[in-house]
Amino acid sequence: MLILGLNMFHADASAAIVVDGEVKFAIAEERLNRHKHFGGFPALAIKACLDAVGAKISDVEHVAVGQDSDANLAKKVQYALANPAKILNFIRLRQRKEPMRDVRSLMAKALDVDSGQLCFKEHHLEHHIAHIASAYYCSPWEKAAGFSYDGSGDFVSTMMARCEGNEIQVLERVFLPHSLGSFYTMICEFIGYTKYGDEGKVMGLAPYGKDTYCREIGKIVAPKNGGFQLDLSYFKPLGSNQGMQILPDGTVRLARHFSNRMEKLFGDPRKPHSEITQRDMDLAYAMQHRFEQIFVDLLNRLHTRVSSDDLAMAGGCALNSVANGKLFDTTPFRRTYIQPAAGDEGLAIGAALHTYHSVLKQSRQYELKNAYLGPEFSDSRIQSVLQTAGLEYRKLEWGELVDAVAGQIAIGNVVGWFQGRMEWGPRALGNRSIVAHPGLPNMKDVLNARIKHREWFRPFAPSILADYQHEYFEHDHPSPFMLHVYKIRPEKRKALCAVNHVDDTGRLQTVSREENPLYYDLISAFHRKTGIPVILNTSFNENEPIVCTPEEAVDCFQRTRMDVLAIGPFIVVKPGQGDHEAITVSALTEDGGNPSK
Ligand SMILES: [Fe+2]
Repeated sequence: MLILGLNMFHADASAAIVVDGEVKFAIAEERLNRHKHFGGFPALAIKACLDAVGAKISDVEHVAVGQDSDANLAKKVQYALANPAKILNFIRLRQRKEPMRDVRSLMAKALDVDSGQLCFKEHHLEHHIAHIASAYYCSPWEKAAGFSYDGSGDFVSTMMARCEGNEIQVLERVFLPHSLGSFYTMICEFIGYTKYGDEGKVMGLAPYGKDTYCREIGKIVAPKNGGFQLDLSYFKPLGSNQGMQILPDGTVRLARHFSNRMEKLFGDPRKPHSEITQRDMDLAYAMQHRFEQIFVDLLNRLHTRVSSDDLAMAGGCALNSVANGKLFDTTPFRRTYIQPAAGDEGLAIGAALHTYHSVLKQSRQYELKNAYLGPEFSDSRIQSVLQTAGLEYRKLEWGELVDAVAGQIAIGNVVGWFQGRMEWGPRALGNRSIVAHPGLPNMKDVLNARIKHREWFRPFAPSILADYQHEYFEHDHPSPFMLHVYKIRPEKRKALCAVNHVDDTGRLQTVSREENPLYYDLISAFHRKTGIPVILNTSFNENEPIVCTPEEAVDCFQRTRMDVLAIGPFIVVKPGQGDHEAITVSALTEDGGNPSK
């Protein structure tokens, strides 16, 4: 049975294909059309899903969309009636969305087929149920507490649920305008981070701040009736677009969230790209602090309703890895399952799996055990791309490749690591990664100066062999999708200085051989050479969506000051790159020169 899941006309549009209950392929449209956070119709992603399983759209029996504009209609009407000025906006929004609901016509147009050939049944699932479904149905559990939170989706910002067997029973919703995501976004905007998706950057700024504004910021969002509420005087009124607008070209644009009251209390908002002051850092600190307090309150309440050790969590706010890392100390939950695309692209798999299990009553056997759900490319395709680019390369066996790359990392070189299937979700997890030495004091600056050009305060992440997590970090709970931040043990901070954040934490990826044997072997080879079972892992890109194809990887390698590219079985070394001794391809092999001919 083929089910196509979609997130469409919403940020991070995506598609996923589920075959007999297993997610076989999933991808965000941005990776294919190279338009970051693209929020239109995921036409290329749909085609990629169908190609991946060798199907035609006429073979698809069900299409499931993680959005239902009829959900919570009574609450929307109630809000509109209480705010008469918004009624016109509300009607306009519904009218604008009407053509976007016609999945059959959109699909026929995108795939250039007659809509008469499309025999699929269509399902629309409320946004946050799709989020929770994306976590629960991918987890190994038969029962769990379900939690979803973000800016907004189908007029809801937070949902708590009981997940058992095939069913997700909604226990509570927090309706707009009250939203922890909006609270976070509002303060990010105030301190100059105004783009969709900037919240993750500001999370890294928070530890540089002090508790100067915790009391003031604490007044903006307060617990209420087991949920929370915003003091709306700090916000611009909720508009027709719920603070986020999708432009006709698919660009996601945020509207200004903060009101003049913020300026009266805290002065002028910071202009993007201007100097970051102590005030901005202190506001970031207070924002993260309050966010965590409310998050913990919500989870503790959820646990009183669903007495389980297991928490299946999703939604854009579930990407707050700092909060995730603390929940084991502050709530009764002992295990989390957060699938790698916890944000809105994950709605595609949530909607599809919900259709399979809850609507069609099919039993559960599937567990999502790794993030590698995207495209892969043959060695011959990669070789041809290298030849076209005129690059000198050498083909190596598995063991030679990991040994050569580990050796390059050990001497301080920066390596583009492009292997196997692309990751699903926003994190590079060892298949579309840039890897480097985690223990060189200047490595963060080198990466930023040569390739990444990121804000100075953003940390780089460590990938660690799962067997060594407890030796290096203060928590044991695995973090295979890089979604938890833990304290690094004091005695290991020097060895991990390039990935040790200012508060002595790291957003780790635990790597097991079962999940990614090649990446595991690479880190093991680095461990043998240096005694450190960790490498620095950052996404393979330069201010663009993460590279998907070999062409994009080669292009990124050539236009940045990366030293080495390991792409499939091929290795390319840029001669004379870097401040250290130049290593040539011939030096990597016993027989020396003439590497690519
Ligand atoms: Fe969402």
